[in-house]
Amino acid sequence: MNHPVDEDIFAGAKILVTGASGFIGTHLCNRLAALGAQVHGVSRTQRSGAGVSRWWQVALDDQRATGDLVRAVEPDMIYHLASFVSGSRAMEHVVPALRANLMSTVNLLESATDTGCRRIVLTGSLEETQGEASAVVPASPYAAAKSAASAYARMFHALYATPVVTARLFMVFGPDQKDLSKLIPYVTRSLLRGEAPQLMSGTREVDWIFVDDVVDAYLALATKAGIEGKSFDVGSGELSSVREVVMKLVEIIGAQVQPVFGSLNDRPMERVRVADVAHTRQSIGWSPKTALIDGLTKTVAWYRNTPTA
Ligand SMILES: NC(=O)c1ccc[n+]([C@@H]2O[C@H](COP(=O)([O-])OP(=O)(O)OC[C@H]3O[C@@H](n4cnc5c(N)ncnc54)[C@H](OP(=O)(O)O)[C@@H]3O)[C@@H](O)[C@H]2O)c1
Repeated sequence: MNHPVDEDIFAGAKILVTGASGFIGTHLCNRLAALGAQVHGVSRTQRSGAGVSRWWQVALDDQRATGDLVRAVEPDMIYHLASFVSGSRAMEHVVPALRANLMSTVNLLESATDTGCRRIVLTGSLEETQGEASAVVPASPYAAAKSAASAYARMFHALYATPVVTARLFMVFGPDQKDLSKLIPYVTRSLLRGEAPQLMSGTREVDWIFVDDVVDAYLALATKAGIEGKSFDVGSGELSSVREVVMKLVEIIGAQVQPVFGSLNDRPMERVRVADVAHTRQSIGWSPKTALIDGLTKTVAWYRNTPTA
């Protein structure tokens, strides 16, 4: 059972959210605003939007600009979600992933340590390497940068007592996912238009987690005492193949067209990983609440009711 989060902590708190314009960032900012937080959203381009009291336009791979931002806001807490999110294996993505996922994290850790804040919550990924780092090969530029960012977080905590924790997210889905090329928005929108989605083999097994559950985990990670320096899996603890999820969407939508599996090549080095939810529950009192079918049903309903998405 989930332990209740002390939500009063958020009322009036100044919270800096990077990647606030993104899929998970939007859901997180809305929840924080509903709890009475003063949300400062960071974005590279000019934005507006509910849930954010003030937008800041900053490229977080710029060390000086990041320092200026953190000194100006003096946040009580920081949520770092901004990321170059492609899992592509292409070499042209090495430097963008390094800058967006690693440099931004190091710059924030340094600025937050200098300025001081109660908690900084980083966003890791199921794609990160596990085990003895020297022996494990990251599967993509994204995975390499995310793995290194978590290593820096451990170092900042150990050497400089930075109050950092990492949410290691598994495959997040839900309404209003911004990257429409991701599996669930792509398949849902194609089926709703009556078009057959073109897919890889669909055999990959994935741990899927609904976005509202992820936001609950973020709240727990910012408030639980004594967990600094550590990473926590945020997933469902269950695997379902891509094919199973796609066929559930076909059923929920009542689609007349069938997806085409195998029309795209599978990616090399795909890892199968399931979240250790028992460890997360014991450590922070969080566990997922939304069953896969319920999350998919809510997601389809949102796309049906939001034809502009
Ligand atoms: N969605 C998932 O299934 C999943 C799984 C594991 C981990 N995660 C992690 O969760 C976080 C949020 O993911 P999301 O799905 O919400 O992603 P998203 O919708 O693509 O949002 C990411 C945000 O990061 C900012 N960003 C993108 N590229 C950037 C760059 N090169 N430099 C600086 N900022 C950049 C963008 O904001 P601006 O364009 O406004 O600057 C964007 O709104 C990321 O750290 C991601 O790695 C997500």
